[in-house]
Amino acid sequence: MSRKGSDLIVGLDIGTTKVCAIVGEVNYPDEIDIIGVGTHPSYGLKRGVVVNIENTVQSINHAVQEAEQMAGCEIRTVFAGIAGGHVKGISGHGMITLRSREVAKRDLDRVIESANALLIPADREIIHVIPQEFIVDGQGGIKDPVGIYGVKLETKVHIVTGQVTAAQNLVKCIHRAGMDVADIVLEQLASSEAVLTPDEKEIGVVLIDCGGGTTDIATFSGGSIRYTENLTLGGDHIDRDIALGLSTPLAEARKLKEKYGVALSELVSTDEKIEVASVGGRRPRRITRKDLAMIIEPRVEEILSLVRREITNSGYRDLIPAGAVITGGTVIMEGTVELAEKVLGIPVRRGVPSGIGGLSDIIANPVYSTGVGLVLYGIRYKGDKKLRIRDENVFKKVFDSMKNWFREFF
Ligand SMILES: Nc1ncnc2c1ncn2[C@@H]1O[C@H](COP(=O)(O)OP(=O)(O)OP(=O)(O)O)[C@@H](O)[C@H]1O
Ligand SMILES: [Mg+2]
Repeated sequence: MSRKGSDLIVGLDIGTTKVCAIVGEVNYPDEIDIIGVGTHPSYGLKRGVVVNIENTVQSINHAVQEAEQMAGCEIRTVFAGIAGGHVKGISGHGMITLRSREVAKRDLDRVIESANALLIPADREIIHVIPQEFIVDGQGGIKDPVGIYGVKLETKVHIVTGQVTAAQNLVKCIHRAGMDVADIVLEQLASSEAVLTPDEKEIGVVLIDCGGGTTDIATFSGGSIRYTENLTLGGDHIDRDIALGLSTPLAEARKLKEKYGVALSELVSTDEKIEVASVGGRRPRRITRKDLAMIIEPRVEEILSLVRREITNSGYRDLIPAGAVITGGTVIMEGTVELAEKVLGIPVRRGVPSGIGGLSDIIANPVYSTGVGLVLYGIRYKGDKKLRIRDENVFKKVFDSMKNWFREFF
């Protein structure tokens, strides 16, 4: 797509609570302007996965039309995010023999291909194969082994797979909305493009994207992704707790949370009063903001405790000196950084998309991390990929992923 001769890349974040379309314009290799943002409530997803095609298509249409109007363009192709409990990240290893000669570029393809020979069940789709390092004759930590002499070339990779049907439903919705899919991208990988610095990724950092229905985790170290995990818990669960705890409708609970919610109850005093609508025609009641915080805190604490457990289980607990970067709509809430530092026991900062031109004020919000990240991911891999979901050739998609990665790496 283009406008006035410049390239346009569109990210489509189909989240559990909102669908958002973000149009990015590439002016120079390093200069990106966001020129269109469209959002619409999402009614067709549960815990990050499409469960109602019609509702999802409608939300996509609304969000895309809004972004098109703002950007003055027609959106035909998008980079879309994928998340949910079905997405799994695993470590892989590949090895080939070189018969004592220099490593050539095509050997990199071969060695990654061999990592992939790993058995992937028929009901799963490979979303990414991301090489982390190469090893020549036992010497590890090599980013570019081309030209090095050796007899044995190995690679460590991170392989992300998802349920075929979940990926197919996502693609189907986008097709029904009249657009093509350039690629599907793991949501936390996309968010990381928008909120993490290259330094953080090099030193070691964990990204936590806490949205409405899911909390996505990704650990980076030595410049590449090491570990990914998804929890099917998010801001929606806080809403349910508030609705139950205060006997108020769900929509009202969410409004209260977004307007007055605090994640760490010790941050609010007991004298700030708020009004709560009741169910069944009863009169509204007054509670304190602290009462509300005391309902929210245990749930956010639970989510963060599960995140901490994942970080510990991943083995990266001591390999993330840059701490945690939290993003996603839920972290807009006051006190989330403080509570996260307390529960995780590492430094925490709130991540919002930054360093981008255009509508930078609008997108400097944690709800846009995935959408903006999809644009940045798309720019990085622009034109390289053709999406292939099962009905075509899975292997081709894997191969394309590898090619893209090489481009990033060298
Ligand atoms: N000011 C706010 N205070 C507290 N929570 C907020 C605020 N604004 C938005 N949220 C919450 O953020 C959540 C939505 O976040 P986000 O847009 O990142 O999720 P999503 O991408 O739609 O969902 P997911 O990524 O889980 O599929 C909702 O639970 C919403 O209530
Ligand atoms: Mg999201």
